[in-house]
Amino acid sequence: MKTVLVTGGAGFIGSNFVKYMLEKHPDYLIVNLDALTYAGNLENLTDIEDNPNYVFVKGDISDSDFVNQLFKDYTFDFVVNFAAESHVDRSIENPQIFVKTNIMGTQVLLAAAKNAWQTGKDDEGYPTYKENVKYLQVSTDEVYGALGKTGMFTETTPIQPNSPYSASKASADLLVRAYGNTFKFPMNITRCSNNYGPYQFPEKLIPLMISNVIDLRELPIYGDGMQVRDWLHVKDHCSGIDTVLHKGRLREVYNIGGNNEKANIHIVDLILKFVKEKLEKDNYDGIATDTSKISDALKIHVEDRLGHDRRYAIDNTKITTELGWSPSYTFEKGIEETIEWYLKNQKWVAQVESGGYQEYYEKMYSKKK
Ligand code: NAD
Ligand code: TYD
Repeated sequence: MKTVLVTGGAGFIGSNFVKYMLEKHPDYLIVNLDALTYAGNLENLTDIEDNPNYVFVKGDISDSDFVNQLFKDYTFDFVVNFAAESHVDRSIENPQIFVKTNIMGTQVLLAAAKNAWQTGKDDEGYPTYKENVKYLQVSTDEVYGALGKTGMFTETTPIQPNSPYSASKASADLLVRAYGNTFKFPMNITRCSNNYGPYQFPEKLIPLMISNVIDLRELPIYGDGMQVRDWLHVKDHCSGIDTVLHKGRLREVYNIGGNNEKANIHIVDLILKFVKEKLEKDNYDGIATDTSKISDALKIHVEDRLGHDRRYAIDNTKITTELGWSPSYTFEKGIEETIEWYLKNQKWVAQVESGGYQEYYEKMYSKKK
């Protein structure tokens, strides 16, 4: 029996991870701490909300009084920090909240975990800790910056973030590294590539394009659409984190990725093709799209993102050879399942889009044209 604090567990990856852990480790208690920002939705978790091994706590990771109290209420063995502001475009509009949540929030969690886990000091003055505890920071490949046409990110690639989002994630990542070095704090850092799968908020490329095809809205491709992302199914990310949590060597960094580089334009083409095929073949509740209107004409090239990273690609040699992790999804299977999920879960889409999302969409995309 272990007690795991999962922060940001009402978001896209966090909610998939909560479910993954409850299924994989049925004797663990999972405590989900989430502030329920626009990106956090308890609807992502309705299927497990009554599980006796699951607790939801609403709160902000940057509120140190609150977080310290939570560490008094529970004896955590593991902390997995997903909570973050996660969208690059929003970070270009409003970097401040990224600093508060991603950097300050990480610092608050590190301090609380260190305080809760420290047992004393060794002969050299370094803190000593309870056995078998670990803090895992969910970082991102975006901390490495951008690649040219060739090469891949390894764990020793210099950290050179280019957006306010990636700079805030890099700062958090480096704080965790510093805790490892200065306090011999029991931690790991994972740096994963772009995720896709169920429950991703529709502001991100794949769910946004699926929704727009269904609604026959224009498909806004930034710049030439030849930017490359390295896609990993969210469930493979979850299994990678679980592997590092249980088997990762303390104070090591592990890249997580599945060797799936795709240009954005290729993703948009795939979505157009699959959504059209599926809607022509089957009926989906709440969808009445005129499929004759689904065509390339929906694609428009809009103003490029400022400072847009051209290419990401993860070298996953360390996690695959050292820890024996490997992804289980091919991109073809994963993207088709994901499209099917969005077609079957239009109520979820409508629900998460019902807050301030429409306003966000108008504001961001009207000025890009
Ligand atoms: P998301 O935006 O879907 O979810 C973030 C969650 O954090 C939401 O539930 C939100 O309510 C919560 N949150 C935000 N601020 C908070 C605060 N101050 N206190 C408590 N909770 C707060 O993000 P995601 O895509 O699921 O990403 C999760 C993590 O994984 C992030 O740290 C992100 O940087 C990292 N990551 C994401 C990807 C990706 O492709 N999505 C890739 C690599 C790494
Ligand atoms: P996104 O899903 O925001 O993830 P990230 O910026 O963290 O990689 O974007 C993925 C890619 O898709 C990125 O190159 C930007 C591009 N993109 C578009 O072309 N149009 C869009 O409307 C969005 C949201 C993204």
